[in-house]
Amino acid sequence: MSDSLPARTPPLGWNSWNAYSCAVTEDDIRDAADALVETDLRDAGYEYLVVDDCWMADETADGVLQADPTDFPSGIETLADYVHDRGLKFGLYSSAGSHTCQGYPASLGREQRHAEQFAAWGVDYLKYDNCGEHHGRDAIDRYAAMGQALENVNREIVYSICEWGTNEPWQWGRNVGGELWRATDDVIAKWQADDDEFGLGILDIIDRMAELDIAGFHGPHGWNDPDMLQVGNGPESGQSQHEPTNIERPLTEAENRTHLAFWCLLGAPLMIGTDLRSLGEAEHEILTNERLLAIDQDPLGIQGTPDRREGVEEVWSKRLADGGAAVALFNRGPERTDIHTHVPNTAAPVDAASYRLRDCWSGSEFETSGEIWAGVEPRDTALFRVTPQ
Ligand code: GAL
Repeated sequence: MSDSLPARTPPLGWNSWNAYSCAVTEDDIRDAADALVETDLRDAGYEYLVVDDCWMADETADGVLQADPTDFPSGIETLADYVHDRGLKFGLYSSAGSHTCQGYPASLGREQRHAEQFAAWGVDYLKYDNCGEHHGRDAIDRYAAMGQALENVNREIVYSICEWGTNEPWQWGRNVGGELWRATDDVIAKWQADDDEFGLGILDIIDRMAELDIAGFHGPHGWNDPDMLQVGNGPESGQSQHEPTNIERPLTEAENRTHLAFWCLLGAPLMIGTDLRSLGEAEHEILTNERLLAIDQDPLGIQGTPDRREGVEEVWSKRLADGGAAVALFNRGPERTDIHTHVPNTAAPVDAASYRLRDCWSGSEFETSGEIWAGVEPRDTALFRVTPQ
């Protein structure tokens, strides 16, 4: 495949939903654009700034989408210019139904007109949700209609399919022009959701990605998407306030580390979802860790898979383009635990006499003939880059 196609590696950016939910305004988007630049997140690779649900006016005139006159008074084109002027790419949201999940006008049956509007406004990325009336049309049909409309316009627009995994979009996402497709229900800012709670916690998504076993569908220009990042979020975030969740505290540092370590091992699209105006130092350090981001963006584009899931201990790994592998040692339990594995039980090649082990959190390096181990704190994940030498 040609490198001129979009999303050669998983897209990185920021999306408004988890931070602001339906209260988002154009001022929030401008602040996020400025913050991406000022906090060096843009330079770390987070280049897409995506406005999620609730940017539209309540009604369309002749099926033409319009920005909400109160919350987005300057209009989308002016906002996209502001984002582009900061060296970022601009993303927008609609739904493959009559309405968005929050009840705003959406794109089913008006795909071409809307794709043309998006292109004229300078949209570089479309997140396309699954809410509203479907008028008897199945998911493949509805998502293919927008895929075709985007292909017809004279602008490269990354197509992010948000179908929640209901109809196995990994089976057909690429075929309808998608560069990424949500594999799971919505992530919430919590370690583990209660049984009757809206959404999935970080641990729930890790479990779901293990069960789904869809790594074979994942690769350059077409990515399984375990949903956006909640690093930095808790009960105060826009989404936590808006959705029927029961969140009592922010994710801890260990939980945030495990969240990012797994999303990078999975080669997931990384969409930051926290309010960047109040981003803490620890969260900033996690999100900009270049050793982790290199694993996420590895050119081979393989999705990490579990090697061993046993009680509180989990070992996951993925092969990397340099001939090595990334190996994650995850402690699900409440006590510090020593977790061991050996190269032949991971995705690393077995034929080297020795290996360089790089601890992706600290940057420290070790040498090993094959044993990989770490003392791992509760809910934390040690992540190593293993390179044959
Ligand atoms: C959900 C989607 C979320 C967010 C929300 C907006 O369907 O999964 O990521 O976009 O709608 O209403």
